[in-house]
Amino acid sequence: MRTDTGHVFKLEDYRPSDYLIPATSLDFRLSPDATHVTALLTIERREGVAAAAPLVLDGDGLTLLGVAIDGRALPAGDYEATQDRLTILKPPAAQSFELRLETEIAPSRNEALMGLYRSSNVYCTQCEAEGFRRITYFLDRPDILSVYTVRIEASHNEAPLLLSNGNPVERGALANGRHYAVWHDPFPKPSYLFALVAGALGKVTDSFSTMSGREVELGIYVEPGKERLAGYAMDALKRSMKWDEEAFGREYDLDVFNIVAVSDFNMGAMENKGLNVFNDKYVLADEETATDADFANIEAIIAHEYFHNWTGNRITCRDWFQLCLKEGLTVYRDHEFSADQRSRAVKRIAEVRTLRAHQFPEDQGPLAHPVRPRRYREINNFYTATVYEKGSEVVRMIRTILGPETFRAGMDLYFERHDGEAATIEDFLKVFEDVSGRDLAQFALWYHQAGTPNLTVSSAHNAAAKEFTLEIEQSVPATPSESRKRLMHIPLAFGLVGAGGKPVTWTAVEGATVDDGVIHIRKRRHTVRFTGVSERPSVSLNRGFSAPITLSVQQKPEDQFFLAAHDSDAFSRWQAFNTLLTDALIAAFRQVLGGKQPVFVTKLAELAGRIAGDGMLEPAYRALALALPGEADIARDIGKGIDPDAIFAAREALARTIAEANHEAFLALYEDLADNGPFSPDAASAGRRALRNTLLDYLALLPGGATLAARHFNAATNMTDRAGALTVLAHRHSGTAEAEQALAAFEARYRGDALVLDKWFQIQAGVPGAKTLEKVRALMRHPAFSIANPNRVRSLIGTFSSANQTGFHRPDGEGYRLFAETVLEVEKRNPQVAARLATALRSWRALEPGRQAKAKQALLDMAKAENLSADLRDIVERTLA
Ligand code: PHE
Ligand code: ZN
Repeated sequence: MRTDTGHVFKLEDYRPSDYLIPATSLDFRLSPDATHVTALLTIERREGVAAAAPLVLDGDGLTLLGVAIDGRALPAGDYEATQDRLTILKPPAAQSFELRLETEIAPSRNEALMGLYRSSNVYCTQCEAEGFRRITYFLDRPDILSVYTVRIEASHNEAPLLLSNGNPVERGALANGRHYAVWHDPFPKPSYLFALVAGALGKVTDSFSTMSGREVELGIYVEPGKERLAGYAMDALKRSMKWDEEAFGREYDLDVFNIVAVSDFNMGAMENKGLNVFNDKYVLADEETATDADFANIEAIIAHEYFHNWTGNRITCRDWFQLCLKEGLTVYRDHEFSADQRSRAVKRIAEVRTLRAHQFPEDQGPLAHPVRPRRYREINNFYTATVYEKGSEVVRMIRTILGPETFRAGMDLYFERHDGEAATIEDFLKVFEDVSGRDLAQFALWYHQAGTPNLTVSSAHNAAAKEFTLEIEQSVPATPSESRKRLMHIPLAFGLVGAGGKPVTWTAVEGATVDDGVIHIRKRRHTVRFTGVSERPSVSLNRGFSAPITLSVQQKPEDQFFLAAHDSDAFSRWQAFNTLLTDALIAAFRQVLGGKQPVFVTKLAELAGRIAGDGMLEPAYRALALALPGEADIARDIGKGIDPDAIFAAREALARTIAEANHEAFLALYEDLADNGPFSPDAASAGRRALRNTLLDYLALLPGGATLAARHFNAATNMTDRAGALTVLAHRHSGTAEAEQALAAFEARYRGDALVLDKWFQIQAGVPGAKTLEKVRALMRHPAFSIANPNRVRSLIGTFSSANQTGFHRPDGEGYRLFAETVLEVEKRNPQVAARLATALRSWRALEPGRQAKAKQALLDMAKAENLSADLRDIVERTLA
């Protein structure tokens, strides 16, 4: 494990390295406890660098067995080797030479899951961001592009399958039951995209013929016996390949494309060139084991990793500060893909919910950072919602500002100009400036400035003058180390909505540039005056969520109700209803704190009923509209003095009010939606299941609710319904016979299927209330739980700490204690996963004083633990700062 050096990496310190490595040849002799790695590196001194410049290579925990240059062993005095650095003190004067390095590593003891490790006896690698240096000494930075040839040798029994990047070249048998394979990747790539997989795996094959008519062999490798579960992933892969040709003109470039699913993985998946490695959770699926949400995630992540082949691999990042260059852009691309494959409106609402749930709290708390950060202590901690999700929103805004054709021309220029390079955000913005002739300097602040901008908006209509005026003021809140903010360019899509939902027209507008339904906010204040407006419109703002901002709109509830029923923009219609719900919940929270029973206007429950039954709306949309804002969403919108128990009570009261007011209609609709046809994971079928499960969640609050949910559980023919009903039973009827029986039945049915049992852990970790803590402790001793497996840890501890507001934030602070203890336990093996878990406390300052003090104590306890990793120390210290 890398302990913290306290070193801070700074963007302005970037400089090209003195040496390049145009070619890399690796030879692996695999063995669990002592794998031998021989690296033959062609080293080239960069033009203009002094001949005597020392060559300093990165390493991490390596045992060096030998160093040779141009075939001759290097005398001990000519180099310095530590576990994390190899310095060749006086490299040859020649422009280019060959460096041969021999290292030994122990994959079986690698529990950090970075570098070469074992997952259920399969050898696999994870090199992003800095894992390659755990395999051999190297210039382990993304601007060092090298052509790799990889030879892998292993026992045939232990590893019948030997994979690496690129195309297969050669394979054969060796003495003593061993065999080998050679792979060659013709595309120069950074070391973080290197991959090797070796083991006994089942294979699913297919092929894809590209737009220029080349045949690509597709392979998905899974645990033997699970081949059947890879069909949906394969289908998603082919659809992704086709879509990237159609939407971006991007064709695949190797003869083979392989995906391997492993059970121990720190993240979702990894885009290694020609050899993607996936968390098996995002590959394996059928109706019996996967929910509709799992199917959608698989589709999106398969697409995401595939799209990286152009945005990430062919064009990579100059340095890790540019992470959003590949991630934000690739998320944007996978969002567009899913929108095209499914329902665009529903997808957009889901994206915004995710952004608000994960990125907004990050941007509004101690871990806030710009989409392109300028500083980091540990790069692993910057794979964040800001870099990914806000990064995607920034790309979307470029498209909104330039229009679809110019945006596409910019992307084409990007691919043409930077193919084969390690690029920067400046390079990316420049292509759009070049194709549009516009200056994007102010827009670029979206990359450089942290914090969620806010727009305050008020409106007035002057009937006599036929004038409608919007007063708009922007502000960007201070964030850590950035107290003074500059004014941003915010593309605010809008509509003026008149009677019956019809657009209200105007003859002229002044006070801001308005084009194609977008107001361009660039100054602190704009008075936008529309003339020729005789009817008073309701104003629909930030349509389609055109900018990732918060809005404070002075608008009458009548307007909000009107828009929730009539806005022609589906996103904004959803938003209007969601705002009504949020406002009602915040008011109810205050009533609960004041010791009162919350009351709600009857119009709210009526509107919920109308949306539920509106056959003109897609079921998936109706399900999203009816899902009340989550407890954490409400907390974020309240901002401070958070008492999670009061939020819970307020939310329960509203849910009950809506359920009671619509009992019969909801029940009838619930029965109508019962699906008897064969299962299909398509979006429309999933939407019907989602609506039915949402209705069940309401109905479960009424008399007979537990019985109804138990019936739903027992009648389920797919995981969406089974897990949906189990959640309702466990969360709404915790401790009842119905809940206990269902939990036991689920466990018995899926004993032995770790991925499905994760759902069982997750559901129980999410049960609201103080008692869940003891349950979580008990489940940590369940035979299926393992503190070394990231999926298990995230399901149980991750869910408890980041998705169970009342359980985790128990007023006595015991939730925090268990949490701190467990994070430290995880950290001994896997600092990256521990650091990610630890971010659950990032909003501690928003809590009411009692909980705040206890949360702070838990953070301080973590901070004073000995030998903290760079990963965890960085998170804990920034959170406390
Ligand atoms: N680059 C991966 C992705 O987003 C994420 C990842 C980062 C995976 C670091 C592993 C390690 O597609
Ligand atoms: Zn990615």
